[in-house]
Amino acid sequence: MTTRNSVAEADRALKSRHRAMWAQGDYPSLAAEVIPELGAVLIEACGVRPGLRVLDVGAGSGNAAIPAALAGADVVASDLTPELFDAGRRAAEKQGARLTWQEADAEALPFGDAEFDTVLSCVGVMFAPHHRQAAGELVRVCRPGGTIGLLSWTPQGFIGRMFAVMKPYAPPPPPGAQPPPLWGDEDHVRALLGDRVTDVRAERRTVRVDRFETPEAFRDYFKERYGPTITVYKLIADDPERTAALDAALVDLARDADLGTGPGPGPGPGPGPGPGGTVLEWEYLLFTARRAG
Ligand SMILES: C[S@@+](CC[C@H](N)C(=O)[O-])C[C@H]1O[C@@H](n2cnc3c(N)ncnc32)[C@H](O)[C@@H]1O
Repeated sequence: MTTRNSVAEADRALKSRHRAMWAQGDYPSLAAEVIPELGAVLIEACGVRPGLRVLDVGAGSGNAAIPAALAGADVVASDLTPELFDAGRRAAEKQGARLTWQEADAEALPFGDAEFDTVLSCVGVMFAPHHRQAAGELVRVCRPGGTIGLLSWTPQGFIGRMFAVMKPYAPPPPPGAQPPPLWGDEDHVRALLGDRVTDVRAERRTVRVDRFETPEAFRDYFKERYGPTITVYKLIADDPERTAALDAALVDLARDADLGTGPGPGPGPGPGPGPGGTVLEWEYLLFTARRAG
């Protein structure tokens, strides 16, 4: 028989696995080297300015929280994985940003109702498995008239496709868990927030990623630093054939998406940056809304 206690126990175990997943590898370096501009994009879209009290949900090492603090806001960077905060604190200190770091599950935020003027998340809340619960919490802690801002990878974009490539190698999701890239689907997010928000703006954009010399370099970087990819490889570590198949599938994904000039030095024929190498455009949904009421 399923009891309330056994559901809570299963959720704690799931969250502890998620925390361990994000703590391994080196997510802070990936955020800083591959997608550093995304935090600032979200801060600008949310109109973060001095005097606002801002909550970053799934803040990691502060990709959005640090620019928000530099914009003069009073910021709380919250995340399920406090192991990421040390890198965030170092980055904040280096840039002269002052903010608070707090461990928090997006599905049970340890904050009061309407405590924040702005509640935002940069590819963070999308990884909380129960979307309706997480959306409810975003709304609850935002004051009426305040801003909710979300930047999420789309299902059809590069990272959404990467999760689809990894899916056959991953264990089936627990009952009730929904896939992260659904937060990149505008209709899904509108349905989650419903009439609790107004003034919705949603736009699909891309971020250019041209730091990988080859598709293989992209794969190896993610195998070494990105928690979800590391986890999937660990699960199939005893199976050389499946490992080789996933190796090939990730390279195929990057090769297929490559807009660049191909490997080697010097400018090539494509629209790439010039030095050669793999050029990817990763699509995300930039979604902002005002809390109704
Ligand atoms: C892709 S990282 C994004 C981090 C940061 N916002 C950035 O832009 O670099 C996803 C983050 O979501 C966090 N996360 C995953 N599940 C969560 C949950 N249930 N509650 C809060 N944070 C969660 C992870 O710990 C991780 O830091």
